[in-house]
Amino acid sequence: MSNVSFFSGEKIPLEMHKVRMVQRLNLLPVEERVKCMEEAGFNTFLLKNRDVFLDMLSDSGVNAMSENQYAAMMQADDSYAGSETFYRLEKSLFKMFGMKYFLPAHQGRAAENIIARTLVEPGSVALMNFHFTTTKALITLAGGSVEEIIGDAGLVIQSDNPFKGDVDLDKLKEAISRLGKENISFLRVEAGTNLVGGQPVSMANMRAVSAICRAEGIKLVYDASLLADNLYFIKTREAEFKDVDTNAITLEISSLFDIIYFSARKLGAARGGGILTSDEDFYLKMRELVPLFEGFLTYGGMSVREMEAIAVGIEETLDIDIISQTPIFVEALCNELDANGVPVVLPPGGLGCHINAMEFCSHIPQNQYPAGALAAAVFIAGGIRGMERGTLSEQRKDDGTETFASMELLRLAVPKRVFTLSQIKYVADRVTWLFNNRELIGGLNFVEEPRVLRFFLGRLEPIGTWTQDLVNKFRADFGESL
Ligand code: F0G
Repeated sequence: MSNVSFFSGEKIPLEMHKVRMVQRLNLLPVEERVKCMEEAGFNTFLLKNRDVFLDMLSDSGVNAMSENQYAAMMQADDSYAGSETFYRLEKSLFKMFGMKYFLPAHQGRAAENIIARTLVEPGSVALMNFHFTTTKALITLAGGSVEEIIGDAGLVIQSDNPFKGDVDLDKLKEAISRLGKENISFLRVEAGTNLVGGQPVSMANMRAVSAICRAEGIKLVYDASLLADNLYFIKTREAEFKDVDTNAITLEISSLFDIIYFSARKLGAARGGGILTSDEDFYLKMRELVPLFEGFLTYGGMSVREMEAIAVGIEETLDIDIISQTPIFVEALCNELDANGVPVVLPPGGLGCHINAMEFCSHIPQNQYPAGALAAAVFIAGGIRGMERGTLSEQRKDDGTETFASMELLRLAVPKRVFTLSQIKYVADRVTWLFNNRELIGGLNFVEEPRVLRFFLGRLEPIGTWTQDLVNKFRADFGESL
């Protein structure tokens, strides 16, 4: 949060770091970008990174690491059991969250698997502000189901609500009385609510949710994967916390939940995951599953080098100058696109800029995957790889019909401290060009459709010749430019 004003009056997000190691990028001509998209079955997950100019697929495992994280990796203690590295990571997590027990897991969904197998009874319902793809799949696999109780503002693309990830307290109370507390496996709050556009949850809301659930004896689970962004928003959007230290904010959040888990591919800016709790009973139950699914208790499937990097990354998450870089770049990108008329999720959240494909491609019906088509078109327009977050990311119903997503979003992730401002401006430029030519974009059809998590490996084809039309228009408008 660099509090630096420019003499020009322009609002420019200033980087509070310098770049000391770089990776060369490659921008292919538009004709080759189309070929790459065809080879990838119109699925951005299947592109080769060497063909991508700006990789905005995810922030997962691709955040820039600090010199202190790299230095820490050199002192990793390689040992199957009792590694000193584990105790350093545990210490850093206990300081941040104030919990009593830590269980390592190789990534976020592995932590979700252990939690689901411990808490989900067949037929039970997990209430949550909003689902995440892997969370829902693992709860379903364990025989449970998911019910979302996000506030209505969370599903409004453009709103002035600063905390669109908040749980609707009336929906929560209604769900408890309808389902009966004994049929609720747990209440889950996801920080920086991913699938509605990286939208934060307020402390005021978490306090209220926790009080309601504790009065009913319902267990509370917190997904802290996107906590860094959420901390920034609590500090900047919730007046009470303007001058409160980030560690104190985290400790208060922690006091409101029984179990906290995270993907350390996001939180801690390295690669791994884990679960924290102070509840001995849960700890002992979950502990049994760690050696079975993950690895021995002092590494849980993670490399010790990554664990050292996470330990330092967790400490750095408490530094507002470090965690503010993604949200202020997301804001810059969203504001520029919004000014150019491109429909984006507002207010800007964390994680990335989210484009409303339902409006951008309003001529493409939901069963032709408008957000997936937009992802392909953005790659063709600029070598920019985003991620579809809409119907394509949903699972078909048992009878084979589509589950239409409540939002059709294209996410352009802004991994922490990876891109420069000129690259962000390039993204805004190419997306704006595409918006002005949006009627050229057509829909997609599945050619190969996996049954589970189809968005990862599914292959599609364009309906009609729209990709070639887009290339022709690009050449007409940009001449020889890449
Ligand atoms: N919870 C949230 C909120 C996430 O965003 C993710 C991953 C997970 C859990 C699962 O963690 O990938 O380490 O197994 N999100 C990535 C993304 C995949 O691109 O948004 P994981």
